[in-house]
Amino acid sequence: MTHLLILGGTTEATALAHAVHEAGVTATFSYAGRVARPKRQPLPTRVGGFGGVEGLKRYIADHGITHVVDATHPFAAQMSTNAVGACDTTPLLALSRPQWTAQTGDTWTHVPSIAAAVAALKGPPRNVMLAIGRMHLDAFAPMPQHDYLLRLVDAPDGDVPLPKTHIVVDQGPFTVDNDIALMRDHNIDVIVSKNAGGSGAQAKIIAARSLGLPIIMIDRPRIPNRAEVGSVAAVMDWLAHDTDRGV
Ligand SMILES: NC(=O)c1ccc[n+]([C@@H]2O[C@H](COP(=O)([O-])OP(=O)(O)OC[C@H]3O[C@@H](n4cnc5c(N)ncnc54)[C@H](OP(=O)(O)O)[C@@H]3O)[C@@H](O)[C@H]2O)c1
Repeated sequence: MTHLLILGGTTEATALAHAVHEAGVTATFSYAGRVARPKRQPLPTRVGGFGGVEGLKRYIADHGITHVVDATHPFAAQMSTNAVGACDTTPLLALSRPQWTAQTGDTWTHVPSIAAAVAALKGPPRNVMLAIGRMHLDAFAPMPQHDYLLRLVDAPDGDVPLPKTHIVVDQGPFTVDNDIALMRDHNIDVIVSKNAGGSGAQAKIIAARSLGLPIIMIDRPRIPNRAEVGSVAAVMDWLAHDTDRGV
């Protein structure tokens, strides 16, 4: 019998959970546990790391998992790499979204990593919107001259390692109008963003375009080759036919 494991934490993973539930497929949803109030899922849900590749292999064996769908965020490279390592005999499919590409009116500086984004902020003080989540704030400590606007899903646990910050706690969904207002209110000069792709976090990209603001765009991390599809329907098709149809 099919028992699907969904590695979640994204809008796409939630959409897949609903489709799987409606189709009556046995499935378990997995969260890393980073967010205080994660979205409730219509599936049995587990929370927390598996313990690396070996831990995930053990979980798959112990729970009779027959299929794994990696629907994690494109920047969750460790989890995705572990899934490839653990699924040597278990069918694995990634549900991914295309990355954003610059359009007319965009001024993007592409950087390959968080460290490179930090380096790109060298220079006189500016008002910087850091739209990268709270995990990597420490990395920006070497650039204390800027005034940082941090939009976070949860309030920070402890002190933020940056002297000048404005914190907005908001889980979204975000709209272009609200993001334009936010950027105007804080006189933002530049935005730092991961190239997440998808629609959930895109409002800030469109808002920056309409205000003519530059973006320091962090490219996606590399993930080992795996079968990949771009829609929930394609995952359902894969499950139904039990064949690897990915790229
Ligand atoms: N990175 C982002 O920008 C971002 C943005 C939005 C949402 N998210 C979501 O937040 C979660 C964590 O992201 P991250 O960048 O910290 O991941 P990561 O660096 O790739 O993962 C670090 C470790 O967290 C655990 N983990 C990650 N995702 C998991 C999941 N869905 N279920 C169980 N364990 C998981 C694994 O621990 P073990 O090795 O112990 O198994 C993994 O090795 C992901 O589920 C992702 O979809 C991330």
